[in-house]
Amino acid sequence: MKFPSRVKLVDVGPRDGLQNEKQAVPAEVKIGLVHRLQEAGLKEIEVTSFVSPKWVPQMADNAEVMHGIRRRAGVRYSVLTPNMKGFEAALAAPREEWPDEIVVFGAASEAFSQKNINCSIAESIERFRPVAEAARDKGIFVRGAMSCTVGCPYEGEIAPERVGMLAKLMKGIGVQHVGVADTIGVGTPVKVLRALEATLAHYGVDEVSGHYHDTYGQALSNTLASLELGIWQYDTSVGGLGGCPFAKGATGNVATEDVVYMLHGMGIETGIDLDQLIDAGVYINQALGREPNSRVSKAIRTKRQG
Ligand code: HMG
Ligand code: MG
Repeated sequence: MKFPSRVKLVDVGPRDGLQNEKQAVPAEVKIGLVHRLQEAGLKEIEVTSFVSPKWVPQMADNAEVMHGIRRRAGVRYSVLTPNMKGFEAALAAPREEWPDEIVVFGAASEAFSQKNINCSIAESIERFRPVAEAARDKGIFVRGAMSCTVGCPYEGEIAPERVGMLAKLMKGIGVQHVGVADTIGVGTPVKVLRALEATLAHYGVDEVSGHYHDTYGQALSNTLASLELGIWQYDTSVGGLGGCPFAKGATGNVATEDVVYMLHGMGIETGIDLDQLIDAGVYINQALGREPNSRVSKAIRTKRQG
């Protein structure tokens, strides 16, 4: 079996992790989380989203968070921008505070597209088109998130052909990289591989990442299966934070700690210091009044106590 020798993890905790939190999380705590993640060795962090504060109140402090970050050389900062309004808001700052990467986010399911971004898949592509064009003009990398590539909370199972169709549409508007998301964590390895293969018909293996929520406890298995296919980029969330407010029952992303432990155990490099990462997970969970949702974090913290 041949696995990649190096994997890049994008911690989406500050965005996907916190967007669904009911309690207000102060901007300074979010900034503190970003700082701890970069100190732990994360090379890409999904910081926030420029979406409607009426839809996602937790992300209303997007500009404040982006402004407050102390940038570290070699780290890339990404934000979600679903339309030109969001893109313009993300760039309404001095150039050094611009995101390195923006994310347009569509779905392989019509019903989820409507619930999440209030438009059809076809309409979403027309909204993303000028965003992708404007970003590339300014030298900002364009990533696309593809939700519900395995299952949808409203439509049930999603056929791989629909994932392929979405990937093709994303490619057509100049999206440079796509994330295959199992939004509600229902996927199992073979189903996730089908969604990835449908995507790989339009994107190269270096242009595709996995974004697996862990609702049914399958995310590590899905990650391992994806590694076998050569996929070496994954979105993960420190402390297993996360969930989408528009996908009922969806829980957090796979915990970054769990993925790092698995990869290091397989001899795969991440550049991440697991101990510091665990501390970052403790930091944000203390702010939320919870325990990190990561088995590895729990095991290592128990061991630390001797
Ligand atoms: P809309 O209602 O279709 O937009 O919303 P609109 O153009 O008709 O505007 C309606 C109102 O929203 C107006 O304000 C606009 O100014 C405002 P009003 O006149 O009513 O006061 N507005 C905005 N405000 C701030 N920033 C913007 C913006 N755009 C319009 N960018 C929109 C469309 C997409 C904005 C809305 O549906 C929305 O914000 N949805 C939230 C989507 C979201 O954040 N979902 C969670 C992230 S996706 C996710 O978690 C999945 C992922 O992790 C992968 C996976 O796991 O599947 C990525
Ligand atoms: Mg997600």
